[in-house]
Amino acid sequence: MRYVIGNDHGGLDLVEVVKDELEKLGHEVDHVGAFDNKSVDYSDFAKKACDKIIEEKADFAILICGTGLGMSLSANKIKGIRAACVSESYSARMSRAHNDANVLCIGARVIGSETCRMIIDEFVKTKFEGGRHQRRVDKIMELERI
Ligand code: RB5
Repeated sequence: MRYVIGNDHGGLDLVEVVKDELEKLGHEVDHVGAFDNKSVDYSDFAKKACDKIIEEKADFAILICGTGLGMSLSANKIKGIRAACVSESYSARMSRAHNDANVLCIGARVIGSETCRMIIDEFVKTKFEGGRHQRRVDKIMELERI
């Protein structure tokens, strides 16, 4: 799968951990920045990364800021995006199995690198279950039209 990472200055510390874990699991990784700890606005990088999904240049995005919140709030404004802000591995698994999330948001000031690796593993390895969950995801997407 093709993954794209986007982060702000608050998320920088986990970028290499996420990249390393994704590559270990055999995935292609693109990184749209930020590349240093200069203060930036998380929405700009949420958009850069999510655009790759919309343009079909990536299958999934991992967005990292201080809490994961600014990234998820921004990403969920973009049509076609289902972003889950997660700080433990059970929710990471369920975000794929039940919610068909295409974006995972994490907070580098909330979780450490080992929790981060566990979250990435669950998100990456879990498939959407479909069935009744498809109907619910369809209803989420219908909300974009309101
Ligand atoms: C940046 O200081 C911080 O506000 C940002 O990384 C994020 O946590 C916002 O949701």
